[in-house]
Amino acid sequence: MRDFALPELQAGFDLAHELARPRRWLVTGSAGFIGSHLLQALLQAGQEVATLDNFATGYRRNLDEVRATVGEQAWRRHRFIEGDIVDPATCRLACKNVEFVLHQAALGSVPRSLEDPLRTHAVNATGFLNMLVAARDSACTRFVFAASSSTYGDHPDLPKVEDRIGNPLSPYAVTKYLDELYAGVFTRNYSMQTIGLRYFNVFGPRQDPDGAYAAVIPNWASRIARNEQCMINGDGETTRDFCYVANVVQANLRAALVPAQGARHEIFNIAYGEQTTLNQLHELLTENLRDHIPGLQTRAPQYRDFRKGDVRHSLADIAKARALLGYEPTHSVRQGLREAMTWYVPPQREVAAS
Ligand SMILES: NC(=O)c1ccc[n+]([C@@H]2O[C@H](COP(=O)([O-])OP(=O)(O)OC[C@H]3O[C@@H](n4cnc5c(N)ncnc54)[C@H](O)[C@@H]3O)[C@@H](O)[C@H]2O)c1
Repeated sequence: MRDFALPELQAGFDLAHELARPRRWLVTGSAGFIGSHLLQALLQAGQEVATLDNFATGYRRNLDEVRATVGEQAWRRHRFIEGDIVDPATCRLACKNVEFVLHQAALGSVPRSLEDPLRTHAVNATGFLNMLVAARDSACTRFVFAASSSTYGDHPDLPKVEDRIGNPLSPYAVTKYLDELYAGVFTRNYSMQTIGLRYFNVFGPRQDPDGAYAAVIPNWASRIARNEQCMINGDGETTRDFCYVANVVQANLRAALVPAQGARHEIFNIAYGEQTTLNQLHELLTENLRDHIPGLQTRAPQYRDFRKGDVRHSLADIAKARALLGYEPTHSVRQGLREAMTWYVPPQREVAAS
């Protein structure tokens, strides 16, 4: 049993109560998958939100979907800046007068980083540092950022605990670990509060199903719905700790608002805490889609070689987030898939994209 008797983080705080007071937030990467959900949750909670994105991998349609969901009145509390975090002046502008930064903007995907390590580094490392500097020089109270389970690299232990990491297996993983190191250094030297959330395979509505770097769940869901075959890298017994996006939103809000004294740097695993094999995932998606698409014909998956840079098994120990943030995931993989399913079914997605 790990001991988390750290009095400065009071996990027993009341999130709804904290959110009752409007504050000024910055969400980067708001046209992307996770960022758009953070924007939506904050606007629905009556908060003032600035957001920043350059549409590198995000879409205007995601912002439009948030606008349609929250309504015009709430949308007026949102200010969008189109810009690139690789530009320090843009980061300064975005951080002006904000109290909390939820930094999500990055280039995701292990294969993308193997193909273009320079661009991944520019955005995920230099862009990250630009954001940290801008937050340090602004009124920002706390800098919460999207870290990654890829930081565990080749460490064999399961479940993954925050302080035991291995060698990174991709340029993407290097940048995400570097971000954690920089955040720690900024806390120690400039008295900032920084919290890194190591997300484990997040999924949900608005996650891009298309393109060479699409994540497995939206990619397979859209393939199965079109009666196309899914490709499984390896034997399908590779496991992931898939985490529904609502859990990630909760973790971000808690990380930003949990009471803390003085300079503080913490890293937390954010996941559901359960392993699912790729074979099980394929079955689950097929079952769910059959319920939504009457008469759906499906094809068995095709197996191919393992992919470079991928870890074999992944499972998070989420005890630290539970103890210090009061994080309690509300959605299992099954519950998340059920909730997201209407978005994956073609007519719905066509409506969303139009
Ligand atoms: N989705 C996951 O499973 C997962 C897992 C671990 C970590 N993460 C991290 O979570 C964050 C959000 O991921 P996501 O899945 O929502 O990805 P996403 O690609 O949907 O969103 C990222 C957003 O950042 C924007 N962006 C990229 N480069 C930018 C730049 N230079 N300037 C401004 N904006 C830029 C993109 O346009 C996009 O809208 C990323 O930091 C990612 O590394 C995601």
